[in-house]
Amino acid sequence: MKKVLSLVLCALLLIVCVGAMADGQKVGVSMPTKDLQRWNQDGENMKNLLEAAGYTVDLQFASNDVQTQLSQVENMISEGAQVLVISAIEGSSLGEALTMAKDEGIPVIAYDRLLMESDAVSYYATFDNYMVGTVQGTYVKEALDLDNAAGPFNLEITAGDPGDNNAGYFYQGAIDVLNPYIEAGKLVVKSGQVAFDDVATPTWATETAQTRAENILSSFYADGTNVDVWLCSNDSTALGVENALAANYTGTYPIITGQDCDIANTKNMIAGKQSMSVFKDTRTLAAQVVKMVGQILTGAEVDVNDTETYNNNVIVVPSFLCEPVFADANNYKELLIDSGYYTEDQLK
Ligand code: BGC
Repeated sequence: MKKVLSLVLCALLLIVCVGAMADGQKVGVSMPTKDLQRWNQDGENMKNLLEAAGYTVDLQFASNDVQTQLSQVENMISEGAQVLVISAIEGSSLGEALTMAKDEGIPVIAYDRLLMESDAVSYYATFDNYMVGTVQGTYVKEALDLDNAAGPFNLEITAGDPGDNNAGYFYQGAIDVLNPYIEAGKLVVKSGQVAFDDVATPTWATETAQTRAENILSSFYADGTNVDVWLCSNDSTALGVENALAANYTGTYPIITGQDCDIANTKNMIAGKQSMSVFKDTRTLAAQVVKMVGQILTGAEVDVNDTETYNNNVIVVPSFLCEPVFADANNYKELLIDSGYYTEDQLK
């Protein structure tokens, strides 16, 4: 009985403490879509951590529809959110809602993707996006030993969504490593599609990446020519390329890059169908953002580590960049299973 009483007292104490910490303050969390694995995880992590810290959470997913996201954010504002955490479908399409937030004095944190063309963005928390691209490009450079091997090697490129500010950083980070070899003719892009606009994938859709890869394979590699490497900016697009290769390609299997360590792609890494990915632990990002929310609401100094890079065309947004980590079939166990990110069964 005594034990039960002390447990109840402890629980009450916890509730009182947490209540004093956050006092049920309302946080609106707007995520782009449930279609891609990572945003489900991000949304869940944010909700759990915020609730554990005593906040009330309004979590919405916008089905990759810009209008839906706009009205969801406007609703959050009218329902009394005190801070908004937004991962935009399209960085520059939430202007009206952001102005509304600013008018009401509601701070806005851009989550993972920068909110563009607005002075109403208070902070940005993300992974170092340029570094993601650098990790991918460097992997390709080393895997093909570009400085020493004679080559030439055939390269194709699949990048991300032009509406997502991150996509340009991923692309540029990788291209800055690989471009000298393209210019020297050691890497040859048979399709001729190199510029970002030519290789982009609207909404990062797997099907779109797959259709484009199928077209490239049938136009340039149907005669048995090998594609040696397919630089993909993330896992959802890499999956499209892997699907296309499985159905339309008989040559030597290429090096393929990715990002996110999605379950399907991690399985493909284990099966030798994707060479690497870049692990961005969504728990780390969510924890950082929850910390930011607390700092904002208590008037404390907000942790940032980059005040130069992320110019949204109106202001430079103070940012916190988390570090992305290289992942492949050799270290996935330690990174993903030992850390509790996935269970072994999820990867079977
Ligand atoms: C994220 C990536 C993700 C992509 C597609 C980007 O903004 O940074 O991690 O793969 O969106 O969801």
